[in-house]
Amino acid sequence: MRRTEVKRQLDEGDVAALSPLLDAAEKDDTAQAYATVLAWDDEHGDGRPVAFAQVNRGRNGWALAYGGHADAALVQAAVDVVRQEGGGHTHLWVNRPTDADDELARSAGLLRGRDLYQMRRPLPVGEPYDLDVRPFVVSQDEAAWLEVNNRAFHWHPEQGGWDRAILEAREREPWFDPQGFLLHEVDGRLAGFCWTKVHADHHPPLGEIYVIATDPDFQGRGLGRRLVLAGLDHLAGQGLTVGMLYVDAANAPAVHLYKDMGFEVDHVDRAYVGDITP
Ligand SMILES: CC(C)(COP(=O)(O)OP(=O)(O)OC[C@H]1O[C@@H](n2cnc3c(N)ncnc32)[C@H](O)[C@@H]1OP(=O)(O)O)[C@@H](O)C(=O)NCCC(=O)NCCS
Repeated sequence: MRRTEVKRQLDEGDVAALSPLLDAAEKDDTAQAYATVLAWDDEHGDGRPVAFAQVNRGRNGWALAYGGHADAALVQAAVDVVRQEGGGHTHLWVNRPTDADDELARSAGLLRGRDLYQMRRPLPVGEPYDLDVRPFVVSQDEAAWLEVNNRAFHWHPEQGGWDRAILEAREREPWFDPQGFLLHEVDGRLAGFCWTKVHADHHPPLGEIYVIATDPDFQGRGLGRRLVLAGLDHLAGQGLTVGMLYVDAANAPAVHLYKDMGFEVDHVDRAYVGDITP
């Protein structure tokens, strides 16, 4: 018999039991873990949960994700946590979605929203380019960077509207490396940037173009392409052989650019969305 259980805090035994599932789940570096729903199967569970759903509370509302052999009861239990906590706008993120995930989300009242592409290409690229870049300097470049980021991403739910506190939280992340956060200036003004992130624990290790933008005043001049090349060059110089990035499937200029540079879609992450009533 399957049963579900909501935990506000995982004890050590839970974490150990969950680790194979957690390993498979995407790590979300924006949201705070709020609750975990565990599904147990007394006949087939082998003393471990057979599935889990993570409930996170972030800047843009609630974010849910699940792993293992999820079923409708598990997803419903996660949605019920949101409902009991006052409800609100909710995203359910699914890695490599299938028809079964579409159906699970629908059964919990969540509809298909955005698709994110994870794209990859081999490194090094070997395309010649010319671009002056310098590393980001902590405590000096924040204001200029925030302005360009927020101008370029004004339409973007997660990457737009950043403030100093969000940026400084990233600067405190263990992976943060200003040497891989490249800025390009024109006459002393920040015109674009390419911020990279190394996923050393991934097999194979991935060199991510984490955030990239050209200020709207400088777009359409070939800067975006050269910024990507500079970022990929930096990653290749660190010994990485695979370049990776996430892009909204609907972001036509960016998808066009990346495909033209030899990136291919590795897989899709899909958001299902809904407004959960209290
Ligand atoms: C994506 C972005 C970085 C490109 O910067 P850019 O400096 O304009 O890039 P480039 O001048 O090098 O142009 C890159 C390609 O995009 C194409 N492009 C530009 N606008 C486009 C549009 N509206 N639709 C389709 N393609 C477009 C250009 O034509 C060019 O391709 P081409 O060389 O075949 O002509 C820029 O649009 C941007 O900052 N966007 C907002 C932030 C963002 O979306 N970042 C990416 C998140 S993953």
